[in-house]
Amino acid sequence: MKQRILIIGAGAIAHHHAAAARLLGCEDLLVADPSATARAKFASDFPEARLFESASDMFADGPAGPKDIAVIAVPPWLHAKYSIGAFDAGLNVLCEKPLGRDIGEVNDIIAAAVRSGRLLGDCSNRFNDQPAMRRARELIGQGALGPMSLIRMTNRHPRRRTGIEYQPESRWFLNREMAGGGVFMDWSVYDIAMLFDVLRPKGVTIKSASVSSIESSNDPTDVPIDVEFHGIAMMELDLPNGQQVPFIYERASGVHGLTSSELSIDGRNGGMSWQWLPPYEEGMTTVTRYIDAGASVEERTERLSMKDQPHFHHQPLVAFAKRVAGKPSASLDENTIRFNFALIAGMYAVAQSGKSFRVEK
Ligand SMILES: NC(=O)c1ccc[n+]([C@@H]2O[C@H](COP(=O)([O-])OP(=O)(O)OC[C@H]3O[C@@H](n4cnc5c(N)ncnc54)[C@H](O)[C@@H]3O)[C@@H](O)[C@H]2O)c1
Repeated sequence: MKQRILIIGAGAIAHHHAAAARLLGCEDLLVADPSATARAKFASDFPEARLFESASDMFADGPAGPKDIAVIAVPPWLHAKYSIGAFDAGLNVLCEKPLGRDIGEVNDIIAAAVRSGRLLGDCSNRFNDQPAMRRARELIGQGALGPMSLIRMTNRHPRRRTGIEYQPESRWFLNREMAGGGVFMDWSVYDIAMLFDVLRPKGVTIKSASVSSIESSNDPTDVPIDVEFHGIAMMELDLPNGQQVPFIYERASGVHGLTSSELSIDGRNGGMSWQWLPPYEEGMTTVTRYIDAGASVEERTERLSMKDQPHFHHQPLVAFAKRVAGKPSASLDENTIRFNFALIAGMYAVAQSGKSFRVEK
């Protein structure tokens, strides 16, 4: 029986999933989208695909095999509906990020996975498991830092707002009801999945958080905007060795201020930083260690090849297909997905209530 890959949605990200399906040698690719324009573009890029107007017609296409995969590549307000529909049709489900708009939707999707006995993956691992992260985890395990004292992660871009400066044709990114939220839902899901895959915290306390937006003469006038473009949180991570470490986190896609990107961990015996996002110049990624040299600190950078790494847009489906085949994989399991999402939801909750919030694995 051929493994089928069924993609719901034929928009921007669906094209990357279809390219990954080709890489996997998929011989039966099915795609559903109510938009005739989206279907026509998809058909011209992937003539091998079988196209459907509705997901329910596509789900009705034959009995599901145990290795068949549905990829939910529609905007977030449709993630729970189609993930649950796909589980009920007997499919394994890989859902785009954010998995849901709130923790209730995420719990409903996980419950449907458990009911069906099929696997759930999400795409928050898009930038995970690359060589710099594996090396960072190895060095930390070898005690390169000693007890950690601070983790800082900042990624700010003055004008990179999804739905405005990036992918302006998808205005739904600016609508909280449709997108679930702004930059925390769009980007922090990746940051958290990546950092936590290296550090594997058992619990997190979010001590304070805030979200904000900006006004710009580049703002669209055709739709209202009710999502945040800037989010910050002060947290404390409980590491597997029992240590508690402060974590200062910031993400912005729209600010009137500096561009900056930094990931750093300070420890008693050393410091560390690594590249966690593209562009990977000359196909290389880096891990930098800061080592005591008496009156100064020596900066030692290792360059690591990305040659054997799937493209980040292919990574979620490639990793999930391995997991469905029963092989070791970088796909995150249901527990990890729930934990990471609870943290995202928790940052919004703390920003709103002003009260600290605890998330445990
Ligand atoms: N665009 C990116 O760079 C990117 C990157 C990573 C993840 N994502 C995620 O992928 C998801 C989709 O984003 P996108 O950028 O591809 O959006 P998009 O706006 O490009 O495409 C969405 C598609 O969904 C279709 N659609 C709407 N209702 C549908 C329905 N009922 N059944 C089937 N199809 C339907 C639309 O017609 C459209 O073709 C989002 O969760 C987003 O966060 C996007």
